[in-house]
Amino acid sequence: MAKRLFMLLVLTCFLAAMVTLAVAQEKKAEEPKHEYVGDDKCKMCHKKDGVHPSWLETKHAKAWESLKPEDQKKEECVGCHSTGTTAKGELLTGVQCEVCHGPGSDYKKMSIMKDREQAIANGLLIPDEKTCLQCHNEKVPEEFRAKEKFDYERMKATGIHVLATKEAEEKK
Ligand code: HEC
Ligand code: HEC
Ligand code: HEC
Ligand code: HEC
Repeated sequence: MAKRLFMLLVLTCFLAAMVTLAVAQEKKAEEPKHEYVGDDKCKMCHKKDGVHPSWLETKHAKAWESLKPEDQKKEECVGCHSTGTTAKGELLTGVQCEVCHGPGSDYKKMSIMKDREQAIANGLLIPDEKTCLQCHNEKVPEEFRAKEKFDYERMKATGIHVLATKEAEEKK
């Protein structure tokens, strides 16, 4: 008898777990998916502040061109040298804004962008060192990998874009 009761208990627990899992999965599917829009969309507003033009000068902007044509077809190279795919299925090449700041379809509107909290709620990411280490790691093929350990502050200062608004604010 006790054994049967125990089996029933186990079965009940199992079913409860399955239901919880199914609900959790459904929730995940309901979450709005932010789409990649491409750096041209950010340029509209981030040209005057110098961010887009200075990003264009970085190696990130040219990361696709530095792959040989045959390597642009290799899955093991494309990931770190590109940004993602738009809703229309177009591959955004190079390490663009949205690699570090998140897909922009839902935060790029002026009314949302000008309000930092709203922008973050709509997918804007404020990057940190962990963002960089997604690609600047030991999976970079050895022949191309930097010899020095990744130094966030130094790499941020030379490799991203001007930090115009912050510098201006500090001068105020
Ligand atoms: C319609 C204009 C507009 C567009 C388009 C736009 N932005 Fe912005 N963005 C702003 C404004 C205004 C601010 C707030 C003032 C500032 O920091 O320049 C801002 C701020 C930001 C910030 C700073 C957030 C913070 O407080 O640290 C980031 C990062 C950013 N935008 C990234 C992007 C990216 C990436 C795109 C393209 C996907 C984009 N923006 C498109 C207008 C825009
Ligand atoms: C999607 C992958 C990816 C992410 C994320 C990424 N990078 Fe890069 N980074 C690259 C690639 C690829 C290159 C080499 C591009 C080339 O030379 O063609 C590169 C090159 C650089 C360079 C130039 C290195 C040199 O030898 O001159 C700097 C600096 C840099 N990244 C800084 C950063 C920082 C700081 C972050 C985080 C805020 C970051 N990266 C995030 C992929 C990435
Ligand atoms: C894990 C992310 C990652 C993968 C995967 C990756 N790369 Fe890179 N690649 C980078 C980073 C980051 C750099 C910049 C070097 C550094 O800072 O370590 C880079 C640099 C390069 C460079 C040097 C460009 C220059 O400016 O000199 C070439 C060429 C390159 N990678 C080709 C490739 C090829 C070919 C593959 C596939 C076999 C590949 N990469 C796979 C992240 C990656
Ligand atoms: C390799 C990663 C990377 C890429 C690519 C990148 N950013 Fe940033 N961005 C950062 C980091 C890191 C910060 C500073 C975050 C902090 O500490 O507040 C930043 C800050 C900003 C800010 C705030 C500026 C300020 O003065 O505080 C804006 C606006 C911005 N990015 C827009 C863009 C746009 C637009 C693009 C594309 C043209 C872009 N970013 C590409 C990493 C990146």
